Amino acid sequence: MAIFKKAEKKLTLNDIVLPEHIGIIMDGNGRWAKKRGLPRTAGHTVGAQTFRKIARYCSDIGIKHLTVYAFSTENWKRPKEEVDAIMKLFKEYMIEAINDFQDDSIVVKFIGDRTVFPDDMLELIEKNEHDSKDRTGMVLNIAMNYGGRDEIVNAVKTLAKDVKDGKVDVNDIDDKLLSDLMYTSGQPDPDLIIRPSGEYRTSNFLLWQSAYSEYCIMDVLWPDFKTEDLDKALIEFAKRNRRFGGI
Ligand code: IPE
Ligand code: IPE
Ligand code: MG
Repeated sequence: MAIFKKAEKKLTLNDIVLPEHIGIIMDGNGRWAKKRGLPRTAGHTVGAQTFRKIARYCSDIGIKHLTVYAFSTENWKRPKEEVDAIMKLFKEYMIEAINDFQDDSIVVKFIGDRTVFPDDMLELIEKNEHDSKDRTGMVLNIAMNYGGRDEIVNAVKTLAKDVKDGKVDVNDIDDKLLSDLMYTSGQPDPDLIIRPSGEYRTSNFLLWQSAYSEYCIMDVLWPDFKTEDLDKALIEFAKRNRRFGGI
């Protein structure tokens, strides 16, 4: 008699607990373009569309916080033409987000050192944040000129100044105080960080906040990333056993 293995039930999003906060390192645009004989900037253009689609999807399925890594403090090392093309895409997105946002429940925030951006970009950043601040849906953090080390250095500088001015006692410095000085102040730490493009590194993303984040490294390149890939990561996350140092 043939023995049939009991078929394992295929999990769907309805069966699992979703992470409250997802981080995504939107990587692989350049390789996607290279594979097709296109300039790297073409990969960024398609990657920007993927971002719109995935952000919308996260909001639709009820994710509370999404942080996307769009441009790092190290990405300025790239050729000017590529940096300019990425900045142009940001601008287009920010104008679109103000005028005709597909999901008007999303709260838009920008994390990173914004002081380097020209006035017109800064105005768009501030207008997006201002116009969306009273919404009640998903918080979308866009990491632009963001670096985890840079964020920690800035927090330490603020703290040092507060100690010097007598506003903070050295003995009161703890995790919570530092967390409140990060760009993500008031938001939960990411539960899940997804990195498409198969690279096994953080590349300076949310260093402080990711102490206990689950990483999901995926082989797909960001411009090819589909909502089904996000589902896969969510299901993988649901199977992980998070211990936070306990047993
Ligand atoms: C991510 O894709 C986008 C940015 C860093 C701005 P990449 O441009 O790093 O793509 P790869 O890693 O070269 O394929
Ligand atoms: C990380 O990707 C930054 C973003 C996706 C915005 P990089 O492509 O810059 O990372 P490395 O250089 O491969 O580590
Ligand atoms: Mg890359």
